[in-house]
Amino acid sequence: MNERLANIKQEILEGIKEKATSRAAAFELRKQFLDSKAGKIGQLMKEMKNIAPEERANFGKSVNELKEWAQNQFQELDERMKKRELEARYESEKIDVTMPSKRGKTGNLHPITQMRNQLIDVFAGMGFEIYEGTEIENDYYNFTALNTPKDHPARDMQDTFYLSPEFLLRTQTSAGQIHVMEKDKPPIKILSPGRVFRSDDDATHSPMFHQMEGLVVDKKITLCDLKGMLDMFVQKIYGENTTTRLRPSYFPFTEPSVEVDVSCFECGGKGCKLCKGTGWIEILGAGIVNKKVLENCGINSDEYSGLAFGIGIERTAMLKYGINNIKLLFESDIRVLNQIDDN
Ligand code: PHE
Repeated sequence: MNERLANIKQEILEGIKEKATSRAAAFELRKQFLDSKAGKIGQLMKEMKNIAPEERANFGKSVNELKEWAQNQFQELDERMKKRELEARYESEKIDVTMPSKRGKTGNLHPITQMRNQLIDVFAGMGFEIYEGTEIENDYYNFTALNTPKDHPARDMQDTFYLSPEFLLRTQTSAGQIHVMEKDKPPIKILSPGRVFRSDDDATHSPMFHQMEGLVVDKKITLCDLKGMLDMFVQKIYGENTTTRLRPSYFPFTEPSVEVDVSCFECGGKGCKLCKGTGWIEILGAGIVNKKVLENCGINSDEYSGLAFGIGIERTAMLKYGINNIKLLFESDIRVLNQIDDN
């Protein structure tokens, strides 16, 4: 009998060594010995009746000892297996948190929007407020009130899309100046971004483009104020070492009128392809608001003066990002747009 017990013990030890490769396998193995009905140790108890009465107590004790021993063995086995499986899981699910992450694809704002936002940032920092006008204007706001009456030759400078004899697609954000000056009394300091339209189409002109109008009306506004603001603008957009120069020009609604050049940010003024060897690049039109325009809006031109400027957003962006054809800004080619992420 003792031999049978020893064999079972041996069988258990071998089973643990050879068959118990997982928690599930260990559980199955345990069942073979310790299942209350079919288990080999349980079966031994049933043989009690075949044992001589004087040996029964001893036999019972030995079987119980074996049972206890087996339970301990399987308990330990189960714990070992649990630990091993947990470690395997940790190993397979291991992540290196120091690895660089995969960059998700994100879109970026359109270059014109980026440029518009940058310009708004610069001028908002100087205290300008935004006024957004309408794209459809009447002749009065777009031209007449801006000192450009019907027979004025300056109308030729802006080839206009008329919707009717009275209404048109605004050719310039300057139309907003009149709305603002009719509505508000000085001091006025507004920035007016928006779309404008001209029948014009080549590598640097598009029938629809964007402008950013600036208007300041207050006591004693001079060209010095204009130059100071524009210097600040070019330094923020094209770099700290850039500056501006003013050249005489003509617009009906400003007197004097100036064309503003920025010192070439590509060559630092030495002369290169971008500035066509001159060291300067023309960037915008500006001037001191014509007294007649102030009077048209009911502002006393002896008491107040104003400055105005009109920035072409496409042109500013094309210069900054090295874009040589304005069409690239309107074709929505993702390969082009992806390259310009400045915000
Ligand atoms: N409106 C002018 C243009 O479109 C630009 C400009 C604005 C000039 C303000 C002077 C003052 O060409």
